[in-house]
Amino acid sequence: MPKSLSIYIAGLVTVGALALAITSFVIPVDGHIRLNVFESESLDIVGGIAFWTGLTLLASALPVPMPRGSLINTSIAPIVAAMALGGPTAAGWVALIGTSEYRELSGRVPWYGTLTNHAGLVIPAIAGGLARQAVLAELAGTGIMGPAVDFASTLAGASVFFALNVSFVAVTVALRTNQSARTVMRGDLPTFFGNWVALAPLAWLMARIYVLPGVGWWATLFFTLPVYIMRVALRQIIEVREMFTQTIGALAQAVDARDTFTSGHSENVQLISVDIGRVMRLKDDEIQALEWGGLLHDIGKIGVPDSVLLKQDKLTRDERALMNRHPVIGANIIAHVGKLAPELPIIRHHHEWYNGSGYPDRLMGDEIPKLARVLHVADAFEAMTSARPYRMRPLSREQAIAELRKYAGVQFDPVIVDAFLHTVWAKGAADGGRPTEVRPVPLLAQAAVHMVPPPAPDGSPAVAS
Ligand SMILES: [Fe+2]
Repeated sequence: MPKSLSIYIAGLVTVGALALAITSFVIPVDGHIRLNVFESESLDIVGGIAFWTGLTLLASALPVPMPRGSLINTSIAPIVAAMALGGPTAAGWVALIGTSEYRELSGRVPWYGTLTNHAGLVIPAIAGGLARQAVLAELAGTGIMGPAVDFASTLAGASVFFALNVSFVAVTVALRTNQSARTVMRGDLPTFFGNWVALAPLAWLMARIYVLPGVGWWATLFFTLPVYIMRVALRQIIEVREMFTQTIGALAQAVDARDTFTSGHSENVQLISVDIGRVMRLKDDEIQALEWGGLLHDIGKIGVPDSVLLKQDKLTRDERALMNRHPVIGANIIAHVGKLAPELPIIRHHHEWYNGSGYPDRLMGDEIPKLARVLHVADAFEAMTSARPYRMRPLSREQAIAELRKYAGVQFDPVIVDAFLHTVWAKGAADGGRPTEVRPVPLLAQAAVHMVPPPAPDGSPAVAS
């Protein structure tokens, strides 16, 4: 376990244990959580806590795994209801015991994982309970009363619970999986937030029904069904997302599999592009576009006949024209998939040259979408360092870097070549640096390209997949 993770867990667990001990001594459990079935009030309070703990156990029993390594379940509903009825102490105990899972009891979760999960729920539950009481007191001071006040304060408590819990989970997953907390948070936050939006008001309603005169605790049990349906819906949303990702991976493999020389090419291009994107500190949605764009950039080769795609000899002019259509074919294929809209420009323009002599649209410089310029560098490096029918011995990393440097400003964006040289792919390899002489770029000739209809593409680029 990384040292940072063990320090974080020790701190979180210590704070959680102290918070629960102090709250239990200082803040008595609110009597609203009473079950009203026993003669004794203290038994009724214990019974009430046990009731909400039982519902939380049910909700925690079937967690849904999220793509970035965290788990999501519907236990926020009974914990927030217990918070609204019994205050911070009750919420803390319900969160501690109620979130125990079979996986923990059967030893499938390491002991430190169990402690972290529970501390990451106990602290938010207590803090949420305190926040709810503070908002309630504040609103009562202004003379406003009624269910709306109760609702607002419960929502405030649920918000604090949610924000803290999500932060703890994000930091834990980030430290465990070596991602940034922001990446984990941004990736999974929409689903967590949707869960909160659906369940926080339901939690308040459950608490209101529980104390409704003439009804009773048993009526709350009817809410287990919508909570369960929410869980099923969550699972389906996540499964559909996973299926989408897997389908894209399968499509990329289908393209690579047609040619033994390019097996694994798309995956490597994806990894290199993402690393360049990270060096360039691109936004998370741009990194994601590079992930999928990397996998799918050559999807258009599906439309290139085997006689051309697998040809060992030099391509004829017509065959080259056919081959060069693959970015357009690829863009047309994914144009029908709304979710892949950010990848469309990457796929269409990943063979544009910085000086305007690429294809299909002969864009130049900054006209070429930034992510397509990133992918072009990654694609070229991968192609140069792998065997190809026309060059059985791949270039060494040093040779490939020298080519990237040589064609920076002509074929590649020099800034992106620089970024590439800061990735692990270029680590330790000799690099002569940017050429000292200023490269003459025939700007007038490039501009002329835009004034006349472009001739049929011919001649293969110096380095391309
Ligand atoms: Fe390509």
